[in-house]
Amino acid sequence: MIIAIDGPAASGKGTLARRLAAYYKLNHLDTGLTYRAVAAALLAKGLPLGDEGVAIDVARNLDLAKMDKSALAAHEIGEAASRVAVLGGLREELVRLQQSFGNKAPGAVLDGRDIGTVVCPDAKVKLFVTATSEARAKRRTNEMLSKGQEAEFESVLDDLKRRDARDSSRSVAPMKQADDAHLLDTTEMDIETAFQAAVDIIDRAL
Ligand code: C5P
Repeated sequence: MIIAIDGPAASGKGTLARRLAAYYKLNHLDTGLTYRAVAAALLAKGLPLGDEGVAIDVARNLDLAKMDKSALAAHEIGEAASRVAVLGGLREELVRLQQSFGNKAPGAVLDGRDIGTVVCPDAKVKLFVTATSEARAKRRTNEMLSKGQEAEFESVLDDLKRRDARDSSRSVAPMKQADDAHLLDTTEMDIETAFQAAVDIIDRAL
């Protein structure tokens, strides 16, 4: 069984995906980490983010079990990830990796931008998780402040909008709600309410 979760940055999809995987006893893959890992490797080598040959090479040697979420969380890595994510050949490589993860028993929750449209078009249930850009920027700002990082609402909002625009306008696998995905708008929801709403949708679809 595959549950596909897509949506923009800071929509709550990552937390939801993790909790849903625990609840339904499925594996979980945050596919954003695969793009972040490739971007981080290019940055570390001092190579341009458009170097698709090296990017593909890094992707081929990527060990999903060894990706370190905390080392890849930085804002600059997210920004760089969205730049490498426009490379079609790299995406093919990462999609293959993500699909083989999803095909392992007992199934998985995958979250990202193109899970319902490209990676797992036959997923049992698809959710598109969204919230207004203001709500998402507020959450992201609070999250950064609570970690002791500097954050300013207006600049977080600008960054989110720029990244969303790049992710939804690229020609390969743009961020998009799949035709058969359920829309979950979490603007007015806390994480517990969003989780319950997601479980209701999924249970009805199973
Ligand atoms: O979700 P996260 O912020 O970690 O994703 C980082 C970037 O990776 C996104 O902005 C997007 O450009 C890219 N991405 C993607 N397809 C996915 C997951 C992430 O293009 N399935």
